[in-house]
Amino acid sequence: MHYFTPEGRAVLDGLAGLWCSNAGHNRDSIVAAISRQAAELDYAPAFHFAHPKAFALAGRVAALSPGDLNRVFFCNSGSEAVDTALKIALAYHHVRGEGGRTRLIGRERGYHGVGFGGISVGGIVNNRKFFGTLLAGVDHLPATYSREHQAFTKGEPEWGGHLADELERIVALHGASTIAAVIVEPMAGSTGVLPPPKGYLQRLRAICDRHGILLIFDEVITGFGRLGHAFAAERYGVTPDLLCFAKGINSGAVPMGGVLVDERLYDAFMQGPEHVIELFHGYTYSAHPLACAAALAALDLYRDEDLFARAKRLEPLFADAAMTLKGLPGVLDIRTVGLSAGIDLAPRPNAAGERGYEAMDRAFYDEDLVIRVTGDTLAVAPPLIVSEAQIDEIFDKVARVIRAVA
Ligand SMILES: Cc1ncc(COP(=O)(O)O)c(C=O)c1O
Repeated sequence: MHYFTPEGRAVLDGLAGLWCSNAGHNRDSIVAAISRQAAELDYAPAFHFAHPKAFALAGRVAALSPGDLNRVFFCNSGSEAVDTALKIALAYHHVRGEGGRTRLIGRERGYHGVGFGGISVGGIVNNRKFFGTLLAGVDHLPATYSREHQAFTKGEPEWGGHLADELERIVALHGASTIAAVIVEPMAGSTGVLPPPKGYLQRLRAICDRHGILLIFDEVITGFGRLGHAFAAERYGVTPDLLCFAKGINSGAVPMGGVLVDERLYDAFMQGPEHVIELFHGYTYSAHPLACAAALAALDLYRDEDLFARAKRLEPLFADAAMTLKGLPGVLDIRTVGLSAGIDLAPRPNAAGERGYEAMDRAFYDEDLVIRVTGDTLAVAPPLIVSEAQIDEIFDKVARVIRAVA
C-alpha cells in the first residue's frame, strides 16, 4: 500500500499506481512469476507463433467476462487496446460486406488513451486540439454528468439515463448503415469518476442492437475489480461486443492490455484458409511472456484474496468516508462508485487547475499520500487491498489538504 521515497518516507498509495496496482505493489507471487518467466522464456513472437501462457491467460480472462466475450487480442497498453477494438469493429463490418459502416461514436468527457483512435473518440479538448484533424467520421454522445441534477451522489445517479437516447439522434443524422461502433467507459474515470446514470448503459445496448452497431466498453480502469466485479459489464448486466482492458490485468507490474471479443465477431474473421492472415494488426510485444506470467499471478491473487468481492464489500464504507469531505471549503461535488471517488474543487479565479495541482502536491509532500488530479478534480482509487483504517486515513489526509488549499 506504500511507496518509499529515497529519503525513506512511506507514502500511502491512494491511486493504485495509476488505477492499475489493484493487488497493491511488489506482491511476492507476482515478483516471483516475472522472475521465473524471465529465466524460462523471455520472449516469443505472437505472429504465427505463440506460447502456452498466452492461451492460459486468454482462457482465464474470458472466464471472468460475461456472455460470449471468449476471444482475446493482447497488446501492451490501454491506448493500444482502444485502437485495436476500433480497428476490429471496422474490419468486422468490412469482412461481412458492410464496409460502409465506418463511423465511430465516442462521448464527451470520455478518455480512451492517447493514440489517434483514442483521442478521436475521446472527449477531452486538450487531448485533441493540438493534434490535427484526427480520425474522420467520428461523432460524440453528450457527457452524462450534470452537477445540477447529480451532486453528491453515491454510486449511479438517478438522473441522466435518457442521455443514451442521444444515440438515436446521431443514428437519425448519419444513418445506421454508416456507423460501426459506439465506445464508452462504463464509468468515466480520467475526467473525474463519472458513474453511469441508472439505466444508461442498458439503453445504449438496446439502441446498438436495434441498429446493428457494435458496443465497445473501455474497461481499462473499471476492469479487474475497481467497481466490485471482474468487469463493470457484470455490475451493470450489460455485455458489450468488445471490451478493452489493461492496467489491472497484472496489477500494473508489466505493461499489458487487451481486447475481449465476442465469439461471433471472431468467427466472422476466421473463414479463410489456414495460411491467410485474418486481421492485419498486431504488436511485437502482444502477449509478452513476462506480462502473461505477471497477469496469471495477479489473477490468482485476485481470486485467492477475493479482492473483487472485497472492493464491493468496502464500497459503502468508502463512499461514506469520501462524503465526509462534503461541506469543506471549495468542495463542489463528490462522486463515488466501487473503490473510486472524484472530488470537484472550486477553481481559483483566473487560475483553473491551480488549486487541484496544489492539493496533489501537498498530499504528496505534507501528507505522504498519492492522489490524482485532473484540473481541479481530485481522484482517489486505492489498491483493492486497502484496509478500512487506511480508507479513513486517506480521506483524513485529503480533508487536511482541502483545508490547506482553501
Ligand atoms: C478508460 C481508459 N482507456 C484507455 C486508457 C489508456 O491507457 P494507457 O495509458 O495504458 O495507454 C486509460 C488510461 O488511464 C483509461 O483510463
